[in-house]
Amino acid sequence: MPADVILGIETSCDETAAAVVVGGSDVRANVVSSQIDIHAKYGGVVPEVASRAHVDTIMPVVEEALEVSGLRPDEIDAVAATHGPGLVGALLVGVSAAKAMALVWDVPFIGVNHLEAHLYASFLEEPDLEMPLVILLVSGGHTMLILMEDHLRYRVLGATVDDAAGEAFDKVARVLDLGYPGGPAIDRLSGDGDPAAIAFPRAMANDGWNFSFSGVKTAVVNHVRKNPDTPIADVAASFQEAVADVLVTKARKAAREYGATGLCLAGGVAANSRLRERVSEAAAADGLRAFLPSRAMCTDNAAMVAAAGWWRLAADGPSGLDLGADPSLRLPTD
Ligand code: KG4
Ligand code: ZN
Repeated sequence: MPADVILGIETSCDETAAAVVVGGSDVRANVVSSQIDIHAKYGGVVPEVASRAHVDTIMPVVEEALEVSGLRPDEIDAVAATHGPGLVGALLVGVSAAKAMALVWDVPFIGVNHLEAHLYASFLEEPDLEMPLVILLVSGGHTMLILMEDHLRYRVLGATVDDAAGEAFDKVARVLDLGYPGGPAIDRLSGDGDPAAIAFPRAMANDGWNFSFSGVKTAVVNHVRKNPDTPIADVAASFQEAVADVLVTKARKAAREYGATGLCLAGGVAANSRLRERVSEAAAADGLRAFLPSRAMCTDNAAMVAAAGWWRLAADGPSGLDLGADPSLRLPTD
């Protein structure tokens, strides 16, 4: 019998998560315990604090996922955990827990690439997604323009040369005194602002496939310093528009150049309302399909880890129990 019931585990940053997914897309349980409240007072994720919180929370979260799924441990066919990229201490908690459970239950362990997991979030909600697809993987740590040619086959067309898109959202939110995490706060505030109020720079918009977001962050800092009376909702909306504009312009061009059938969003920043709107509009204008995972599937969760684990297990077999955490793991490409 194929390994069908996968317990997924995610602890790469500040979410402790466990999920049970059957057949790569049937989500039976998806439990996420966020550490946002713990880190908010520091204005960002503190790695040592994150590791300790994962240690405290991992087993209760796994137990809850099993309970919600209605399945017994002896019905789990394999355990998949994110082994990179991410914070090394945080990753080790999930990897060690997953290996221990795999050993005790005598089932395969699968080390999952967190970036690949984000890409598989879309397939949980649209298992029949057609490829080739252009995917914008935009999170707190990464900004990548990816051509997904087939299952588990990617080409990284471009990436950020400095800040990740989510990092830019978080830094601008700090400048505007909106707290942590910044992305959702800027998204909310932008609803009351004018996206055309300030023409923030669109770095590298017509120059290759790479991105740069440190300039727009500096432009926001300078604007706020010189124009303290500008409504911050206008600053937020104009910043958000500049980021969405560059991301969507390049994704659209890539789809045209590589003959993609659809545009897809992945990663925490994919939860952004304006980015989602712009991707939908671009897809409609260009006759492409748009795949926008639900907001819960954009941010870190373990259902996407279980889904990617299912595909990897089928293609490559189990990982060795000597597989460690790899904080700088890259997306496997051809
Ligand atoms: O994928 P994720 O949960 O964790 C990483 O793997 O990095 O992404 C977190 C990032 C943070 O930078 C957060 O500010 C951003 O995603 N984010 C958003 C929104 N929701 C989360 N950025 C813009 N708009 C949002 N609605
Ligand atoms: Zn992530």
